Amino acid sequence: MIREFYHIDLRNRNSFRVAQRATRLVEFETIEDLRLFFASGIPEHWMVLSGGNNILFTEDYDGVLLTPISQNINIIEEDNSTVAVRIDAGVEWDNLVAWAVSRDLWGIENLSLIPGKVGAAPVQNIGAYGCEVAQVIERVHLFDVQSQRTCTLDAAHCGFGYRESVFKQLLKGRVIITGIDIRLSRTPNPRLGYGDIEREVEKLGGVTLQNIREAICSIRRSKLPDPNVLGNAGSFFKNPVVDTTVAERLLTDFPDMPHYPAANGQVKLAAGWLIDRCGLKGFRDGQVGVHERQALVLVNFGGASGGEVIALARKIQSCVHNKFGVEIAAEVNIL
Ligand code: EPU
Repeated sequence: MIREFYHIDLRNRNSFRVAQRATRLVEFETIEDLRLFFASGIPEHWMVLSGGNNILFTEDYDGVLLTPISQNINIIEEDNSTVAVRIDAGVEWDNLVAWAVSRDLWGIENLSLIPGKVGAAPVQNIGAYGCEVAQVIERVHLFDVQSQRTCTLDAAHCGFGYRESVFKQLLKGRVIITGIDIRLSRTPNPRLGYGDIEREVEKLGGVTLQNIREAICSIRRSKLPDPNVLGNAGSFFKNPVVDTTVAERLLTDFPDMPHYPAANGQVKLAAGWLIDRCGLKGFRDGQVGVHERQALVLVNFGGASGGEVIALARKIQSCVHNKFGVEIAAEVNIL
């Protein structure tokens, strides 16, 4: 079923809580709904607004926002060791993680509490604590707007990389993700190597699927602000990936700088650390600021406009550039 809203206030539909408006917003459930919507023509401006957790509106949106609200989670195939699951785009990501953990299915527990909906997960290849959704996705279900046909894309063709996919590039503005298929494991496969996870899990009584989920939730709650309390969109910047020569130069001056191996022999740096080292953690300018416990997160203390957030982001980018010679790019979609 389709539900339509006109001149809608988006404050409760974006986690930054900025008060822009959209000319029209359409909630849809099924492929038939999409066919019905596009039957009268493709609007000049349209885009998908999923949970609104990775977006910053800097002006009103003069077009149509399409929001998936379908909620099905179905097992489509199982054997002794694995279970394949089909999930609709409108399911809250963390509801899916809770569903999997309650059925003793391994694979997405490290991605607990990531805000947003399932349909957005492949777009930016959500990741945390050493895992990425690309590791479990088998295929993505799409609605092609031009042809109004459905199709599926195997994971191998999704162009997944660090916070990257074909949906951010070639297929941007051409398809609507309607669901994903993932494969989970019945065999325990704990991944505790990242940061404090192992210690937190031990504190909770040892390695169980439920304890890993609880540990991740408690680490996230201790570091990341709850968007329901303080407007934010998680990491505002991507961690920069640089050549080894750049990393080596920086390590001479900053031997304690966190750095991790990345694809193609490059090195990933921690944008949060770079910002922190510029002395900007906890910095506040009017109604916007840098979160006091995680410098990668920009926050809206209430009533800030998207433009104020952008101004702060630019200031941070130039401080990091001046001190380290490194560019940090926004992870959040800026509109
Ligand atoms: N650090 C600081 N100061 C800070 C923040 C971080 O010194 O203010 C240091 C940490 O001590 C650590 C390093 O930077 O040595 C990396 O920090 P952390 O492990 O907290 O992770 P991150 O790189 O800041 C990434 C993801 C997060 C994800 C965490 C955990 C990106 C852009 N962000 O953050 O994802 O939760 O790892 O895996 O890759 C998100 O995308 O919205 C998000 C929150």
